[in-house]
Amino acid sequence: MAHISASVYTSHVPAIGVAVDLGKSDEPYWQPLFAGYEPSKAWMRDHTPDVIFLVYNDHANAFSLEMIPTFAIGTAASFAIADEGWGPRPVPDVVGHPDLASHIAHSVIQQDFDLTIVNKMNVDHGLTVPLSLMFGQPDAWPCPVIPFAVNVVQYPVPSGRRCLNLGKAIRNAIESYDEPLKVQIWGTGGMSHQLQGPRAGLINAEFDHAFLDDLIADPERLADKPHVEYVREAGSEGIELVMWLVARGAMSDLAGGPPPSVRHRFYHVPASNTAVGHLILEETNMETSP
Ligand code: DHB
Ligand code: FE
Repeated sequence: MAHISASVYTSHVPAIGVAVDLGKSDEPYWQPLFAGYEPSKAWMRDHTPDVIFLVYNDHANAFSLEMIPTFAIGTAASFAIADEGWGPRPVPDVVGHPDLASHIAHSVIQQDFDLTIVNKMNVDHGLTVPLSLMFGQPDAWPCPVIPFAVNVVQYPVPSGRRCLNLGKAIRNAIESYDEPLKVQIWGTGGMSHQLQGPRAGLINAEFDHAFLDDLIADPERLADKPHVEYVREAGSEGIELVMWLVARGAMSDLAGGPPPSVRHRFYHVPASNTAVGHLILEETNMETSP
């Protein structure tokens, strides 16, 4: 059977992707940020999964205000690159896993989550920047990726509790897939940032560190945090952090297993106008899992 080996969390600031694409990662502004991801890249080389289930939000590139799915799963064989601002990044197209994605859609919908099934979708910096941070600049991404888009752009957005519970359902779905695949689940976006209005540039390091602490040790409590608290404390775009709860909900400790191991934790301010956070949680029994 398939199993989840680890969860990876990272911000997805578009300027990071531009720094990679333009070869600026050694410049003084960017060097400390990319240095913080070096241990993760090394870990990833030894723990490359068979598939990544990547939870992110679209920034009006695949969807617009004409149609706003709360949860959308990408079931296509491949996903073209698109972006706002600087335009589409020069990175490889994303290869999907239609069979596993369809299985997850079936299982999760039967567990009472109403997913939107998307057979054609472009993916933006929300998905490509995390791939670049973890894998650098390969000719092709090292494994298939199932894009899973969450609406955190247009209210109403899903609650933290619903995101955590969705992660639990995704875990059940993956564990009932009849092929021995090693799957990582990634949660992206955040940390504190606000891109417009009088509070543009807001950073709240205290909030961000407390979020990381709770994400590791007490995600059930974190799931009760209301939206207004994210917006007040972490800025209007800080609400992207609810997507990290989808990935956290898929870890086995929330289904009675042992706590995951923290493989890497990193925090850096600023990247553009945003606080960057990053965490890798590995399943404790990963090597002995079937
Ligand atoms: C920016 C955009 C994002 O989507 C994000 O999550 C962080 C920063 C930006 O435009 O700087
Ligand atoms: Fe974003």
